[in-house]
Amino acid sequence: MSSTVDTRSVDTAAVHAGRADLTALGVHAPPIDLSTTNPLPSVTDGGEAYETLATGGTLPPGGSAVYQRLWNPTVARFETALAELEDTPAAVAFASGMAALTATLLAATGDGNRHVVAVRPLYGGTDHVLATGLLGTDVTWARPDQVAAAIRPDTALVVVETPANPTLDLVDIAALAAAAGGTPLLVDNTVATPVLQRPARHGAALVLHSATKSIGGHGDVLAGVVACDEDWAVRLRQVRALTGAILHPLGAYLLHRGLQTLPLRVRAQSAGAEKLAAWLARHPAVDRVHHPGLDDPAGLVGRQMTGTGSLLAFEVRGGAPAAATVAAACRLITHAVSLGGVDTLVQHPASLTHRPVTGDARPAGGLLRLSVGLEDPEDLRADLEQALAALG
Ligand SMILES: Cc1ncc(COP(=O)(O)O)c(C=O)c1O
Repeated sequence: MSSTVDTRSVDTAAVHAGRADLTALGVHAPPIDLSTTNPLPSVTDGGEAYETLATGGTLPPGGSAVYQRLWNPTVARFETALAELEDTPAAVAFASGMAALTATLLAATGDGNRHVVAVRPLYGGTDHVLATGLLGTDVTWARPDQVAAAIRPDTALVVVETPANPTLDLVDIAALAAAAGGTPLLVDNTVATPVLQRPARHGAALVLHSATKSIGGHGDVLAGVVACDEDWAVRLRQVRALTGAILHPLGAYLLHRGLQTLPLRVRAQSAGAEKLAAWLARHPAVDRVHHPGLDDPAGLVGRQMTGTGSLLAFEVRGGAPAAATVAAACRLITHAVSLGGVDTLVQHPASLTHRPVTGDARPAGGLLRLSVGLEDPEDLRADLEQALAALG
């Protein structure tokens, strides 16, 4: 669904986007439409609506949504809001981040051009899908400075994550878009969120989120979303309608509500992550800390990102066994995958989120990823202190 307001700040948009019609409806909170099927005014009108929606079109005012897999108004509201936050004309929401990636790969390669250039590191699931060629793609892994040379006549997409999960590597989006030339660039913006970074402003054609993470923010919604122009949205909605990957409306409602506090959460969590990163960098049991505030050779924080984000990673001395000891010893911090939520999580990427990643791209054995929540950073520091003390 298209965004209508494009100039207000991210803080204001987070609170108000996708809600322009609520006063006229006489409500303050968005209605939730759970209908799996919808009354049809006539066979002719119903048939036309089906045709429009199944080929990726949008619901005309007063039209029948026909069937939830084709269109849902609660999902469309969230899409309107997210598109405004990402500063794109449209957004398309999916049942998970991986469903969003799948739809993007299918939409990008639908004309038979199946080559994808991808910059590592990427989330382990994304890496796995591309490395296996499960969806019929043929990947070339490239460093950012190798992307221009890796582009072929049949290259359909360039894929990057910045900051990257789990090592928080930063990539200059505008430089990568230039290197990609006319090939569309997909930026996974899950870690930064639109609060800290709007990749479309730097030349990304597609901006992907695992909305399961910061956008939902409370660990209770599995979702994905792609922000893009209307041409891409048509293709993505068609794939979504035909593969059945639409987000559930209850999830869309929660994500839309989550957006209202996203700027506050992201900035508070980022402040906590900065404190912990600085403290960990001085800890004798820690070899290295990965955090955009500590490692930004190209000066992208301030230029491309307005802050550093809630994620950090640290390498403990003693490799994988030491990392396992620390993860198990955390008490306040939950040992669990996922990121971006209000509570702090720690996990071992090489064993879990990035388990399928092979070769040099595999995260270091001693690396632990910490998603910093909204707790008092002093309490988190105390928990990490006692967990690191378990190393003896
Ligand atoms: C950066 C990133 N992209 C995509 C995904 C996949 O999203 P989901 O788990 O919602 O399918 C994840 C999940 O961890 C992620 O961290």
